Formats: sequence, C-alpha cells, structure tokens
Amino acid sequence: MTNQNSTTIKFYKEEQIPVELHKVRVVQKLFLRPIDERAKAMEAAGFNTFLLDTSNVFLDMLTDSGTNAMSDNQIASMHQADDAYAGSQSFYRMEKAVRDVFGKHYVMPVHQGRAAENIISQVFIKKGDVIPMNYHFTTTKEHMMINGGTVLEIYTDKALNIKSSEPFKGNIDIDKLKAVFAEYGAERVAFVRMEASTNLIGGQPFSMQNMRDVKKVCDENGTMMVLDASLIGENAYMIKKREPEFANAQIKDILNEMCGYADMVYFSSRKVSSTRGGGICTNSKDLYLKMRDLLVLFEGFTTYGGMSTREIEALAVGMYETCDDTVISQSPSFIEYAVNSLDAVGIPVITPAGALGCHIDAMGFIPQVPQQQYPAGALAAALFIVSGIRGMERGTISSIRDENGNDILADVELLRLAFPRRVFTLSQTKFVIDRVKWLYDNRELIGGLEWVEEPPLLRFFMGRLKPVGNWTEKLIAKFKADFGDSL
Ligand code: F0G
Repeated sequence: MTNQNSTTIKFYKEEQIPVELHKVRVVQKLFLRPIDERAKAMEAAGFNTFLLDTSNVFLDMLTDSGTNAMSDNQIASMHQADDAYAGSQSFYRMEKAVRDVFGKHYVMPVHQGRAAENIISQVFIKKGDVIPMNYHFTTTKEHMMINGGTVLEIYTDKALNIKSSEPFKGNIDIDKLKAVFAEYGAERVAFVRMEASTNLIGGQPFSMQNMRDVKKVCDENGTMMVLDASLIGENAYMIKKREPEFANAQIKDILNEMCGYADMVYFSSRKVSSTRGGGICTNSKDLYLKMRDLLVLFEGFTTYGGMSTREIEALAVGMYETCDDTVISQSPSFIEYAVNSLDAVGIPVITPAGALGCHIDAMGFIPQVPQQQYPAGALAAALFIVSGIRGMERGTISSIRDENGNDILADVELLRLAFPRRVFTLSQTKFVIDRVKWLYDNRELIGGLEWVEEPPLLRFFMGRLKPVGNWTEKLIAKFKADFGDSL
C-alpha cells in the first residue's frame, strides 16, 4: 500500500483540486451576517480587522496563529497533563518531542513566540549590534530595537517581486551577508537570523542550500545562526517540493538537517505545532545557561515556561505531526489552489504560493489608493464588508514612523488571507476566491483610510482608522445591486 503524502491528488476528469485528508469530527457554527451588519461591525472596529468581534466574522483568515485545527491525538494527549509547578511529566514528553524533531537537547518552553524573542534579544543583543536576516517579523524587530539592535534585511533582489516563479524568495543574499560582516565586523553582528517561510513577504521559503551557505559564512565569522522555526514545517515541505535534492526525502530528515545548521532554534507553537506557547532550543549548554535565568524570571519555571501542561502535551504531539506530509501539506495545497485561481484571472497575488496564506498585492489591486492611505488596510476592510472574510493588513499600517513622524512605507502592501491548517473546506475556499474576484471587478470603488487613533507601538494591533471620503457606501450599494438580498 502506498501512502498518500500530499493533499493535491490527481483527478480523472476534474480540475486539479486539493483534498482534505482528514475528517471533521468537531465543528463550530459560523455566521454570515448581512452586508449592513458587516459594515457596522467594521466601523465599530475602527476599520482595523484586529478589532472585530468574531461573532461578526464568517471566515476568520486573520492568522494561523493559535487557530490551526488540533488532531484527535492532540486533544487526547491533553487528558494526561501532569500539573506540577516543577518536574512535570508533560514537560519531559515535550522535551523528548523537540529533541526528536528538532534535534536539540536543551529545551525551554515559553508562553509564545515573542517571549522567545524577548529572551534571545535581551541576552544576545547589545547596543549598536546589527542582526542580519532574510526578513523581519513585527514582534522580532521591536524586541531587537528595544535592546539596541538594528535589523538588516538582506533578502535577494527577487524576494519582493510579486509575480515570480522563483522557488525560494526567502533566501538570504550571501554576498550581502558577507558585506555586512565586512562593514560592521563580526563583533557587532549579534547573530544571523533565518525565518522559515518568511512571513511578511508572503510565506516564502528558503532553500536548504541557502541555509548551508549562510551557515558557512557564520562559521567563518564565529557568529551564531538563529532559526525562527514558527513556520518550519511548511518550509520543509516546500524544500521537498522545490529543491530536487530533497524530492524523495522524509520531512523529519529535512527538519533535522535545517535545525542542525542553527545554533539556536525558537518557535511559536501557536503555529508550528497547532497549539499555544512556544520554545527555544539549543545543543549548547553555554547558550542555555545564558537564557535560563530570564526564562524563570519572565515565563515561569523551566518545566512550564508560562504554558499550561495541557498545551505542553498537545505541543509534543503536534511536533511529531509536523513531520507528517498530510498535515503540513494541507495549508500550502489550499493556498496554492487559491493563489493559482486568482492569478489565472489576473488578480495580483504573490506567486509562487507560499505558506500561511494567500497574499494579495494591494498596490496592484487598488493602484488609485496612495500608500500614505494604507491600501492593504483599505482592502482588508473592503473585503470584510463584502464577504465577512477577515484578513490581515501586512503593509504600512504594520510598519512604524521615522524620527520625523513620517510613515516608513512598507516594501509591500499585502492583504494576507491566512489558511490555518485543516480549518477551511474547499467550498469555503471557493467562496473566498469568488468574493475576491467580485471585489477586483469593482476595485475602482475602493478608497483609502486615515487615522483616528494611532498608538505609538505596534499600532496595527489597536489603532483605529476611518475611510477617506464615503467610498464604503458606494461599495455597499454596488454589492446590493449585484447580489440583492443574498449575503
Ligand atoms: N515569528 C514568526 C515568523 C511569526 O510569524 C510569529 C507570529 C512570531 C514569531 C511571534 O509568535 O505570535 O506566538 O508570539 N506570527 C503571527 C501571525 C502573530 O499572525 O503571523 P507569537
């Protein structure tokens, strides 16, 4: 018997479609509200999808963080949680899982990914340091800056091209990395960070060869490599699909090799193992001891680190499931289906399809909206109003202001529609594609946004905005003209 190891299987007379290789046994009722109610909800949320109440959301595609579906085995494992402040058996099961899958001996649980970033940044970054990386993540950058570091993004020249057939847009540019060491000297490079399935540029993976090359430069300079493994499963899956050397490799071997190049691996298990929490792991006792005291200070004792024992149990099982092709291919297959369907009709989406979600290029979608009026935020608001689909702005609203108070315009303005693992069905995916197509055909009706309340730190989370002019009214009127009473 051959094992089915991918969710995209061949059909006889059908188009190529992804198939769910799991069955649904627990469900949650969803509500698709009428458009007037959705518009009211969007207004109440200050045109910020983070501030929506999920009772008004139909398909929640804000993120895959903490929203992946858990497996029966994960839920079952929670019943054996061993509640203890210190020395919990749940921790030892998690420690074993992380050792088995990531190949790292010292394992520190933390309450979520950014807690790992806090500890790593406090311990290893000093004022004036630089941290080269393929691309930043929002919380990563803030932690590094707070500790006096400067993030240097040294992606390749092709990384930000929206339409592309480049398989590894998450690669670090090796020449740029060497230039960083030449310019700053190894003593000012705190470490080199590689983020698996580079989140903010569209879930784009790096190749194993690139990791090897980065590792070589790090070794030559005596510098650590730190791997953000929050989306490592999907990156490994894309290495298998796109890097010929790994076509027949086992995911667990790919994961092991990837982690083997890193001196330190940290992760958000809200993503990688479909639970909550996170962790830092390393084979170096010295590195471990440098972080251990902060772990106890900020997170909790070394055997729970701010996580509940139930979550720790589910994390352990989720770690092993990340090695299963049918688990980690599910989200990329559905994303690929959505991306290719939108791309086929000329809608600007990031290609090739990556991990985490379908990323729509807002500047290409609504070129009439200047970047100063936040096209990705405007598109997120418009899509919610016409569909009840909640996406996430990943553009200038998610950026910051410079010392003169001007917006630092984002490299790319993206509307991210996340596909949490095993959550949405194909008909829901088709609904997403359909409503995005309608919006594209009516894109000239969409306008920009302006601030009403702008918090100084991580403004995208809690900030409130409003439409520039009355474009939402025109959009709603057109929707009603086309769909009548239909939702
Ligand atoms: N690193 C990456 C690559 C991430 O994508 C995230 C979170 C973190 C670190 C921080 O982890 O949320 O557990 O503290 N990404 C989420 C997202 C928030 O929606 O993409 P966390």
